Amino acid sequence: MNGTVKKLWPELEWIMDGSLREKTARTWEIALDRSVLKAEDLDIIPFTLLCGPDLKVSFMTHKRCVVHIARAAGEKMNEFFGDDLPVQMDVLISGAILADVGKLLEYEIDHDGKAVQGKYGQYLRHPFSGVSLAEECGVPSEVCHIIAAHAHEGDLVKRTTEAYIVHHADFMAFLPFKSRLSV
Ligand SMILES: [Fe+2]
Repeated sequence: MNGTVKKLWPELEWIMDGSLREKTARTWEIALDRSVLKAEDLDIIPFTLLCGPDLKVSFMTHKRCVVHIARAAGEKMNEFFGDDLPVQMDVLISGAILADVGKLLEYEIDHDGKAVQGKYGQYLRHPFSGVSLAEECGVPSEVCHIIAAHAHEGDLVKRTTEAYIVHHADFMAFLPFKSRLSV
């Protein structure tokens, strides 16, 4: 695992299976190699382009928060539901770490030096490009399913328990930024 990815994602250590941990890290490595963004940019650029110019929360803060929410939710579901609805924690954590890895290929730098969605990202949103990167690194299908189904495209397929958790963790950490009742 390269030092940049290790520093970016301390949560990789939560994946118990060494082979899955390496494949998950490798996917981030090749995405960074092919991106116009550098690892340090991820602590600066806003996590979405859909919440207006005042959004301060960075890409990495949001991504890491989703992984933390997903892990906590998975642990609670295992604690309360046990064998009735078992959650595979390694699959869950790897999928949460990889859900948005394809976004690194969605960006282009515009004339003002700002990161914007490029043509590739319009043709292939990050659930698709993320699966492509992950499969190249040997990430198993149960994890690729989480990447594929985490966003609205996934509303059209039947999600696994782990994919439901990542989907909701992602949206609960996004929708209130986009629009919320505030009285
Ligand atoms: Fe996403």
